[in-house]
Amino acid sequence: MSNMREDDVSNSGWHTAFAPATVANVGPGFDVLGLALAESVGLGDRCSVRLSSGTGTDLVIENDGGKLPTEPSENVATVAARYLLDAAGWTGRLEVRLSKGLPLGSGLGSSAASAASCLRAVIKAYQVDTHASRSPLLSEWIVAAGREGERLAAGSPHPDNVVPALQGGFRLMFDTESGLVNESLPVPDWLRVVVAIPDLQVQTADARAAMPDVVPMADAVSNMARVGLMVSALYRSDPIALSLAVKDRLHQPYREPLIRGYPYARELALKHNAIAVGISGSGPAVFAFTTEQAASIVGDAMVRGFARAGVSARFKCGAIQPARQILLGTSS
Ligand code: HSE
Repeated sequence: MSNMREDDVSNSGWHTAFAPATVANVGPGFDVLGLALAESVGLGDRCSVRLSSGTGTDLVIENDGGKLPTEPSENVATVAARYLLDAAGWTGRLEVRLSKGLPLGSGLGSSAASAASCLRAVIKAYQVDTHASRSPLLSEWIVAAGREGERLAAGSPHPDNVVPALQGGFRLMFDTESGLVNESLPVPDWLRVVVAIPDLQVQTADARAAMPDVVPMADAVSNMARVGLMVSALYRSDPIALSLAVKDRLHQPYREPLIRGYPYARELALKHNAIAVGISGSGPAVFAFTTEQAASIVGDAMVRGFARAGVSARFKCGAIQPARQILLGTSS
């Protein structure tokens, strides 16, 4: 099953989809800026779904070391899938096989990739097998379903992992009275993302609990200004503005102590020409923006930085997954 490719639709009725690793909280964008790593980076989850008549959900998980709940009502993938089925009025029995590619508690959107890969497989299955009707609200329900998975995993339905996991791209997202603002930002063609993944675990729920409820006004102003600069830097393809934009005062100061070796990894990455460095999501992964030429050098430097603190680490690098439609064959 885990060898199935994204577009495989076997005679046995399985539909398979991939969802990539994501970097959330990009720079100053706590809870509002997120990006998806290109599938070619090779980090993400794969999920296969088969529909049959009847009711209920079966769940099998591979490659998680037995750590994730297999009870469908407790797993992010199947909770998200069921939320979508209920919202869309779709019926049937779901068999779900989730193959974990992302390490748990890594800061690379592991729960989001599980939910998003399952949702994408479910959508394929219903569109292909049942020609399910395409309500204009379907895209909204899919996003809401993914966020239910995040609520289960982290206690908060933050969009900055699961929306890029579903839709790719580098996105700005926040809730308003009239729904989720979900803007796809332009990505300079020279921009590469390096993620260093230390052998540490930080649960998002714990990392959220480490943050204060109230932050100093000066910190809020700093982040607010930098989100503006980040958007401008992306539109203008300006690496200098990008490097100034990637600084956070809302969550990183409280979470850096949870990531042994972070200061060294950051220092060495910048010394080797990283454009900018920050915590990926709630950590412990660390991301850097670089050019293609510098990417592996920066990745090696970050791994050496973690080693200085006695933490083993590995790195991956590549481009950002282009933004894509959430539904097959629609312009939504
Ligand atoms: N915005 C979320 C948080 C991302 O920082 O809690 C978690 O990956």
